[in-house]
Amino acid sequence: MSRCIRLGALASGGGSNVQSIIDHIESKRLDAQISILLSDNPEAGVLKRAERHGIPRKVIRPAAFEKRAEHDRAMIHALQQRDVELVILAGYMRIISPEFVQAFPNRIMNIHPALLPAFPGVHVQQKAAVYGVRFSGCTVHFVDEGMDTGPIILQAVVPVVPGDTGETLGARILKQEHRLYPEAVRLYSEGRLRVEGRHVLISDHRVEADQCLINPPFGGTDVS
Ligand code: GRF
Repeated sequence: MSRCIRLGALASGGGSNVQSIIDHIESKRLDAQISILLSDNPEAGVLKRAERHGIPRKVIRPAAFEKRAEHDRAMIHALQQRDVELVILAGYMRIISPEFVQAFPNRIMNIHPALLPAFPGVHVQQKAAVYGVRFSGCTVHFVDEGMDTGPIILQAVVPVVPGDTGETLGARILKQEHRLYPEAVRLYSEGRLRVEGRHVLISDHRVEADQCLINPPFGGTDVS
């Protein structure tokens, strides 16, 4: 059973992932509401998106605080004031403090544009293209105190094709991010996620254990 969970979104940039969550909520594919959008960047495009959809928003600028922990405390306060249950990081370009993580244990999600634990950090679409991997993708994970290290909830895989750059690969990955993040939030809202150590157990789900992707496919034909 899903219940309308209260989300707090943190974003620093354009906010296409936040938009996808908004779209899923508005089309009733996701039973949730974004109770507040927080950004560290007054110029972030995501603020306009939130405004268009009547979502409360607040810019909390790091420069206004002496220490990172103080900035994070202001963020925690803003989220708690709005009774936020689940925090979603969507292109939030700051590392959050241990205090922040502890304030929302296993209640902070992040989306990362690579198949973790490969390519943590930034500019990872370009790093994957340059490295020569045959597949990349995206990962939704719970946030722990490390960087991109928390328990993995869902991953989507995309092929890397000849001539791919960070931009072309990134666009292919982003398309899947827009599907994956709302799905992870939906599983959470339905109470179907349980964290056991590094593992996220998902109740009532089916895995096709025999599926296999090969890139490039044998003999130029699809292999599945
Ligand atoms: C996405 O690629 C996300 O995976 C990463 O930052 C980017 C944010 O894009 N963490 P957008 O602002 O949601 O369009």
